[in-house]
Amino acid sequence: MLKFNKDGKFGILLFGDLHEKPDCRESLRFKDMQKLMNASLERYKPDLCVLLGDIFDTEVCRDDPAAFSEYIELLCRPMTSKGIPVAAIMGNHEHDPGCDDEVIKAYSELSGVMMRCEGVPGKADYKEILYSHDGKKPLAALWFLDSNNLCADESASKYDYVHTDQIEWFEKESEKLREINGGKPMPSYIFQHIPVPEEYELLRPAKLYEIPWSVDGFGKQSGTRFVKAEGTQGYLGEGPCSPDINNGQFESWKRTGGVRAAFFGHDHLNDFSGFVDGIFLAQHKTAGFRAYTDGCHSCVRFIEISENDPGSFRQELRYFKDFGINCECLGPVMKRFTDRQVMAVHSLNYCACAIASAGLLTYFVKEIFRERRERNG
Ligand SMILES: [Fe+2]
Ligand SMILES: [Fe+2]
Repeated sequence: MLKFNKDGKFGILLFGDLHEKPDCRESLRFKDMQKLMNASLERYKPDLCVLLGDIFDTEVCRDDPAAFSEYIELLCRPMTSKGIPVAAIMGNHEHDPGCDDEVIKAYSELSGVMMRCEGVPGKADYKEILYSHDGKKPLAALWFLDSNNLCADESASKYDYVHTDQIEWFEKESEKLREINGGKPMPSYIFQHIPVPEEYELLRPAKLYEIPWSVDGFGKQSGTRFVKAEGTQGYLGEGPCSPDINNGQFESWKRTGGVRAAFFGHDHLNDFSGFVDGIFLAQHKTAGFRAYTDGCHSCVRFIEISENDPGSFRQELRYFKDFGINCECLGPVMKRFTDRQVMAVHSLNYCACAIASAGLLTYFVKEIFRERRERNG
């Protein structure tokens, strides 16, 4: 049972897209990720940790389920050894090897770790009720939703979304919670891997002079350069990879009325956030150093819900570089800059090389023609 602590607060620590791999025992990248975990657990002392999907290279689950269980036990140990419960959700990469049941089973069998199918069979959608500190009154709901993998029709959308039957389950359960909450929607917080398309409402098309620090949109938004809209906080490092098909999940949140905030993984560089129609949407970047990352800007997000007003919360981001811990897995450049800054430096280098090469080529061509002219007389 999840309960508000004796201070009347409930703290949740988010870890996004770790993309860990079977070489974790020897990997410096894994060790640095665990340093961030330990430092943030020490600082925030959360009541719950959430792994926002794309947690592990799950191919290994299909090939060797026992080894996979050992790896995720190792990954979750900083939390479970302190008695802090962990809620895990399915990312698109958890679906990749096509052994969803084994992946869900591996997480659900670990002591102190949650993942289960509560609604549509085979989909790892579940909810946890957050009770008052004395355990008597249900005050809020935490929803952990399965946003699936790639879209069945990839010409319509690269990434999939929460399906209609899953949304129907969410609405039905929300209605039950409304009844036990005296007819009022129960304050709800969503944790999901693939973001809803409404995330683009936190951005706007870039003006001509803003192009250098804008990002290209993703999918059908590709070709439009975006910057953060007014009021959007945080860092925009890439075009948000939401589905091109809008299946009405966000509208369902508005209809049911209780959703206060939704936290997404999937994009490894973005950590921007803001309100859309009164619902706080937050993109959460990777907390690890695998796949494509953002140097020492890997980060955690801390959310604190208050018992005296479970519909309100505060949240903050903290980067690896701000914890005062040493990063061993990155070189000096990536330690200091974000991924986009490094890309910009690379682009400048490429431009400089291209200009120098063009200059040299022109010089040699001129020399060849000069020699020919001289030879011909
Ligand atoms: Fe990812
Ligand atoms: Fe993903």
